[in-house]
Amino acid sequence: MPELVGSALERVDGRDKVTGAAGYTADHPIADVVHAVLVTSAIAHGRVEGIDAAAAEAVAGVLAVLTHDNAARLRRLGRDADGNHAILALQDAEIRYANQPIAVVVADTLEQAREGARRLVVRYTAKAPRVGLDPVRGRSFRPKQVVEEKSDTARGTVTTALYRSPVRMEAVYTTAFQTHNPLEPHATIAAWDDGQLTLYDATQGIFDCRARVARIFGLREDAVRVVSPFVGGGFGSKGPVWSHVVLAAMAARHVNRPVKLVLERPQMFGPVGWRARTRQTVALGAEPDGTLAAIHHHTLAETSTFDEFMEASSLPARMLYASPASATTHRLVRSTIATPSYARAPGWATGTFALECAMDELAWTLGLDPIELRLRNYAAKDPDTGRPWSSNGLRECYRIGATRFGWHRRAPQPGVWRDGDWRVGWGMAVSVYPTHRSEASAMARVHNDGTLVVEVGTQDIGTGTYTILTQIAADALGIPAAQVAVRLGDTRYPETPISGGSQTAASAGSAVHEAVTALRQEVTRRARKDPASPLHDVPEDCVAIEEGRLFDSRVFGKGESVASLLARQGEPYLEARADAAPGKEMDEYAMYAFGAQFAEVRVDAELGVIRVSRMVGVFDVGRALNSRTLRSQLVGGMVWGIGLALTEDTVLDSRVARVVNGNLADYHVPVDADVPEVDVTWIGAPDNCVSPLCAKGVGELAITGAPAAIANAIYHATGRRVRDLPITLDKLL
Ligand code: MOS
Repeated sequence: MPELVGSALERVDGRDKVTGAAGYTADHPIADVVHAVLVTSAIAHGRVEGIDAAAAEAVAGVLAVLTHDNAARLRRLGRDADGNHAILALQDAEIRYANQPIAVVVADTLEQAREGARRLVVRYTAKAPRVGLDPVRGRSFRPKQVVEEKSDTARGTVTTALYRSPVRMEAVYTTAFQTHNPLEPHATIAAWDDGQLTLYDATQGIFDCRARVARIFGLREDAVRVVSPFVGGGFGSKGPVWSHVVLAAMAARHVNRPVKLVLERPQMFGPVGWRARTRQTVALGAEPDGTLAAIHHHTLAETSTFDEFMEASSLPARMLYASPASATTHRLVRSTIATPSYARAPGWATGTFALECAMDELAWTLGLDPIELRLRNYAAKDPDTGRPWSSNGLRECYRIGATRFGWHRRAPQPGVWRDGDWRVGWGMAVSVYPTHRSEASAMARVHNDGTLVVEVGTQDIGTGTYTILTQIAADALGIPAAQVAVRLGDTRYPETPISGGSQTAASAGSAVHEAVTALRQEVTRRARKDPASPLHDVPEDCVAIEEGRLFDSRVFGKGESVASLLARQGEPYLEARADAAPGKEMDEYAMYAFGAQFAEVRVDAELGVIRVSRMVGVFDVGRALNSRTLRSQLVGGMVWGIGLALTEDTVLDSRVARVVNGNLADYHVPVDADVPEVDVTWIGAPDNCVSPLCAKGVGELAITGAPAAIANAIYHATGRRVRDLPITLDKLL
């Protein structure tokens, strides 16, 4: 039987998704449910002086209007060790950012709740907001945490090394606020029953959600159940627990009914996190042959006035190139904005933009091919820690990518290629993202009809988790995919980590692999011990399982099905649980997924219109678990890279600190017409260090590198270096 892992198995939940049978959070049919609408602040900074709810309460069907005057007082709303942000949940009258939740209206129907929300009269006193990365604000400080890494690092003496370098470049790169816009908005249904709370929640981490909500409401963890079988995208925004989750639970307790709260699209801009804008300074020092002597990467980003989150853009400069001297630093300034948060490849997406544009600029200064410059600075091991790479296929990615793209035909000067009205240019850049894995558990149960049920508490956020876990389980027991049922998204199932940091396949996948392998061993053991089995006393290594049938691999036709074994033994099912954990390899190796991206752009010579006409991405992802979902992850990352490079910009009116384009009409994500043919391939070489599955995480990898490849191509096309994302046509005129 061919292995399923590595195949292009179609999504096992695909049919349910396209037919609408897959129930997302807001789809859960909950008896007696009532509807909540969030009301958010019109100002960014100040106080709510009063909310007149009389008109709202007069609307038929309105059950409650919760404001800071009558909301329950809660504890432990501050930032926590799980990476959750401080929550503002109607605890006081202070306004700390525009669009901050200030009231919740609950009614029998959604329409009634909306009408009630519309009739609320809110009086504010406003103070002047303060926003921006202007260095003269002079209030920057060192963040306590930079996505679990140190804020600052140094090797060698970077200032001296820069000073002594014969070739130097220094430039400032800026990136814009970016707002995740998963298709499914954030949504929560909260139902209390005798002091127990059930939350249906659109989340990337049901167990983190359970822990956070239990602490806030003073409950034991086992009094909270979180259910999330289908999530329509997260990209980091559904990682932390945000205020609406707490408010839904609060409202449900207040009205003593289950409450459904779905954010409206404009409410996705602020209350549930965004990617902070950055101002990054990169300085490179090199020998005339391109050998780097010094890398300095400094990132300044904004956080809110009430919490801390650092867009960790200086991280790639720590490990990507073998420069003897390097310094990386991160600083924050406080603004009257919503707290920025994890957004696909936090830090790495924006940091590779600056670093990989700087490398391109250095290549032009030196007259070197950008790939050649990168090859000359290839790091044979992690320069910061000295650890060997678990695997590093970067040079192969350059080679294969260059061939697929036709890189050798590239014009050696910028601004020379024309195709009618269009200037044409090519650029390339590196993709890189760390490989993570955490402890995870799984339960596997084989029934006497031969079917296998696997229960794992992880959530499928659209990446294909149901599908790859089905493949892993089917292979481990030796049964067809159709006989496997994978159940996810319920805290009643064994615990797994958050679906973030691209770690789900390695974490939950390893747990499923171990649980089902243990089950297979138990089935084999029973057959060999059972005098009634054709496999009685067959040596263990001669017992194989295929298509659900145990057989003696030496004797054709000698065997029995798993189902008949269980039936004869009177077992309705057998089960095995595994608690899988990464080992010391995590401290011995530097683990990263890599890639090389190539872009062709066309820039209208008169109008500045920019079109990406071709992209090639080649990635080192370890073993490919499912070529279909892998490709989808990589294409998705590259497409979001186009957004980061060219279209996405959460525009803040700095006078009032309000987002002016907080909707999908004005906030431009790349659509089909913006996305060219994307040629995606990967090196399938298994990484034997990262997990038993030998696969690196792929969810975040491909957004990194794409913006720099596009920006570098725009330079090649036009001779104009734009260091400010998104690159819009006005910046080229
Ligand atoms: Mo990812 S931004 O860690 O969901």
